[in-house]
Amino acid sequence: MSLATVRARAQNGLVADEVVVEVHLGNGLPALNIVGLPEAAVREAKDRVRAALTVSGFSFPQQRITINLAPADLPKFGGRFDLPIALGILLAQQALPAGCLDDLEVLGELSLSGEIRPVPGALPAALQATESGRGLILPAANLAEARLCRAAALYPMHHLSALVAALHQGTLTRADTPAPVPASQMDAADLADVRGQHQAKRALEIAAAGGHSLRLIGPPGAGKSMLAARLPGLLPPLTEAEALSVASIRSISHEGFDARLWGQRPYRAPHHTASGVALVGGGAQPRPGEITLAHHGVLFLDELPEFPRAVLDVLREPLESGVIDISRAARKVRFPAQFQLVAAMNPCPCGHLGDPRGQCRCMPDQVSRYQGRLSGPLLDRIDLHITVPRVDETALLDAAPRDAERTSVVQQRTTAARDRQLARQGKSNAAMSTREIDQHVPLDTACRALLQRAVEQLGLTARGLHRVIKVGRSIADLAGDRQVTATHIAEALRYRAP
Ligand SMILES: Nc1ncnc2c1ncn2[C@@H]1O[C@H](COP(=O)(O)OP(=O)(O)OP(=O)(O)O)[C@@H](O)[C@H]1O
Ligand SMILES: [Mg+2]
Repeated sequence: MSLATVRARAQNGLVADEVVVEVHLGNGLPALNIVGLPEAAVREAKDRVRAALTVSGFSFPQQRITINLAPADLPKFGGRFDLPIALGILLAQQALPAGCLDDLEVLGELSLSGEIRPVPGALPAALQATESGRGLILPAANLAEARLCRAAALYPMHHLSALVAALHQGTLTRADTPAPVPASQMDAADLADVRGQHQAKRALEIAAAGGHSLRLIGPPGAGKSMLAARLPGLLPPLTEAEALSVASIRSISHEGFDARLWGQRPYRAPHHTASGVALVGGGAQPRPGEITLAHHGVLFLDELPEFPRAVLDVLREPLESGVIDISRAARKVRFPAQFQLVAAMNPCPCGHLGDPRGQCRCMPDQVSRYQGRLSGPLLDRIDLHITVPRVDETALLDAAPRDAERTSVVQQRTTAARDRQLARQGKSNAAMSTREIDQHVPLDTACRALLQRAVEQLGLTARGLHRVIKVGRSIADLAGDRQVTATHIAEALRYRAP
């Protein structure tokens, strides 16, 4: 038989669709053609495969070779099809035992010398191969990430010739390295290091409990960046499913998978000069941007007004929906982007507006221009707005107070509050839809009266109103109260207008 098939996986965003590599050896002038919507890097596979096969001592058929990557309408990128194509050519020549790849899928790029090189997206491929009930032959360098999929049958290989020998001798061996246990947040930064700032700490705790977005406004050196960096440690630990999706995102990103980050809440702090694509994702082969790399974690935007308005406006959609759709010439990729936004800014260009010592030298129109860089709709999507005043020098110079609460203590409270949310509505308070708010947060007359007044006096929008109710729910959850009361709502309203 001169027709062979090998199963592989494409990579489209986080989706690793099954691809069948069909190899046909026919009569005619020696040639090799790849059909089935391959991009440039896949078309180059023929040169790599030819070199890898001949250098490894296998014969390259002097026939007309047609390689079809099916389904044809699925775009295919990168060198991930090299190894399946090489094995397909060997199978079609009967240079491999028939049926030796029947319950397996194959993933890997080849070097000219036949070395099997790592590819991006090995974890999503392993997860989806396992779901289809098949094992996966993969580059040895990808084992660390692929084994996070506990149920996967993985066959890590370094070299084409070793792989072919193992298939001949039936000695292909399944990796038995167990998946590592997710580490707790390794962040050394502790909440106890922050002096004073009780209101900001309280807001951080509420934000961590309910998954709310937060804006910190204060003069230079007040501790805004310090506070923001402590939020990941306050968040409840990731579930294994969440940790897997965070690791999968890393796996397809420019930065690649990093085993040390397994189980850690992401903390991303892109600079305001970062491009729109770096922030939201994109490219010819769409890769995740900062907002997706911050999925299930924290996106810290320091100096918020310095970010280009157009870039900030793209954040509006994912802040509500938790996903970002990227369209590139007939292709659409959807990435998750359920990040928790923490923004920091000075109150004015010089940073000292409202300082009791009256240091601010800004003109009123400078201040309004600075603050006007932020669009109303963006600010409306931020649940908690906190003023972070300058800390007193004496508080900074005194010995650290012994009763300062440590991150681990606060995290126990936020985790308990989050558990209540998951038991009640299956998601965080911040992620509740309007319908879920009606269902899970019944309001008494006192709460209604309070909110009514806030709509009239603060000009609260419908969205703002819903966000206040969600924050009130989180405050009640922290207190362990089943019912949201006017006290909770009143506190939530205080964080609405700084
Ligand atoms: N509340 C605080 N407790 C302890 N140290 C603090 C506090 N606030 C500031 N500091 C010290 O000052 C440094 C600067 O703080 P931080 O970078 O968080 O300020 P910031 O508000 O982000 O300022 P900027 O507006 O300039 O970015 C910290 O690294 C820390 O050493
Ligand atoms: Mg700062």
